[in-house]
Amino acid sequence: MALALSSILLSILLIILLPPLLFLTWYLRVSRTLPNLPRIPIYVSILGLWSSMGQDEIYERWFRAPLEKHGAVLVWFAGRWSVLVSRPDWLTDMFRNEHIYAKAGSQIKIPHAVIATLVGDNIINAHGENWKVYTGIMKAGLQKKVFETTSLLKQSRKLVDVLIDLQKEVGANRGILIMADVQKWAVDVMSENFLDLDLKKTNPHQSLGQPNGAVRIEALQSIIKATLFKPMYFSFPDLDHFPWLFPSRKSAYNTMREFDNCLYTMIMAMLHKRTQINPTQSKDMVSHMLGEAYTSGRITEKQFRDNLKITFLTAHENAQQLVTSMFWQLGTRVDIQDRLREEILDTAKTHPNPSQEIINGLPYLTAVVLELLRLFPPVCQLINRVALRPALLGGELPIAKGTFVGWNAWAVHSNPDIWGEDAREFRAERWGESVEEMQGRFRRETVRGTYIPFNAHKRKCLGQGFALLQVKILLFVLLGRVSWVVDPAYRLKMTPVSVFLLGLDDVC
Ligand code: HEM
Repeated sequence: MALALSSILLSILLIILLPPLLFLTWYLRVSRTLPNLPRIPIYVSILGLWSSMGQDEIYERWFRAPLEKHGAVLVWFAGRWSVLVSRPDWLTDMFRNEHIYAKAGSQIKIPHAVIATLVGDNIINAHGENWKVYTGIMKAGLQKKVFETTSLLKQSRKLVDVLIDLQKEVGANRGILIMADVQKWAVDVMSENFLDLDLKKTNPHQSLGQPNGAVRIEALQSIIKATLFKPMYFSFPDLDHFPWLFPSRKSAYNTMREFDNCLYTMIMAMLHKRTQINPTQSKDMVSHMLGEAYTSGRITEKQFRDNLKITFLTAHENAQQLVTSMFWQLGTRVDIQDRLREEILDTAKTHPNPSQEIINGLPYLTAVVLELLRLFPPVCQLINRVALRPALLGGELPIAKGTFVGWNAWAVHSNPDIWGEDAREFRAERWGESVEEMQGRFRRETVRGTYIPFNAHKRKCLGQGFALLQVKILLFVLLGRVSWVVDPAYRLKMTPVSVFLLGLDDVC
């Protein structure tokens, strides 16, 4: 009798469990069309759910050995197995041949997902005709030959003022968290230089110096970042199909819509005001160019909104990340700070308000920023291309049509076969002595696929020149006024950096 009961229970259990098990086996299967490469265990993609391991530790433990040996691995990313590449010649092939390895962002891969709602179809993730249209409209605004340094200097000085006040407030015995103010600074710089959202002192959009949360569109950025990178939803975006089941997804969609509407309303108000004040004024900002294309019918309202959002996001968060890493790196290596400060103070004597040429002519400053980008590439990994036809990557690795492929910049930048045994050390001197030498090496390594913080070839970053200038100017101002050390209690992770700021004489 007891035996019969237990076998009935077992059968019921099997009937209940079998369909989900079969479904999971099918869902997680590795397609036969994928190349024969080592596979990163799937649990690594959701490790963040139960482990506090940083991305650097995860990379060392699971990625480094197979990537350095095979040049590529299979990785579970955004709901499918994809090919992650780190061999420079294969990367160069991928970057050069966009007609084969076409951009296919989340709007193509997972159009229903929260992240696709956020970014839509834009200049970074579009392919073909749409990309040509967006580039034709926006490129001139992103790649201005001469960027005005006055406002960059002013905003950098303001960030330093805010940090000094913060340190005074907490007292000399406690470290300060710099992340929130760095984000505000990055958002303000982007708003003023690309979107024309800075309207002087009374500007309600300027967030630096205001309490956290005072400027809603800036505050939304922290919510968006925390929402997007939740490991479970990031790795299994199919869960986004069920917002009625997961209340956090419902609120994620609402946040993305709020950001979209908030930005659209602000830009439309700015454009309206501009037309009323001076309709003939030159329109050299990305937001003006997009506005003009929208009102003349060259792009739809959705395309207008999507490209505004990507400009907002990409033009602030990469600089924000780089500066946060900079605070950590230079706060643990005071010798670099000292050497850089010497160069800066020397220049500031004759150029207290340096132009773009003066800033870009400083060799050690240039080398430090290039080295920061090597060791802390803000865009560390991207898998946003799809093979449009069967291909042999680099003439060696068979890639079937429809396979998603991507790259990992840290893998390339930290490989000792490429950068030498000291690849993981910060050594600005490796870039050379003169600025010309450094720029030459920067160009060569980019073309070879061995230095890819801004990607390379056809789809490389269009904001590179501005981003480099922005970070150099901040360093110029920051090092002229303060020195800092990282709070000894802080461990490097993808968490806020806490520093002790020590004031210097006001020079810059
Ligand atoms: C430190 C700062 C920055 C870094 C590290 C960075 C990095 C990158 C990378 C890696 C890509 C290639 C993305 C891909 O392959 O899908 C890219 C593309 C792009 N970036 Fe940046 N970026 C930075 C700042 C900026 C800024 C300030 C702007 C100005 C709005 C900008 C605009 C763009 C655009 C428009 C593209 C797309 C180019 C195309 O596909 O034609 N970036 N960036």
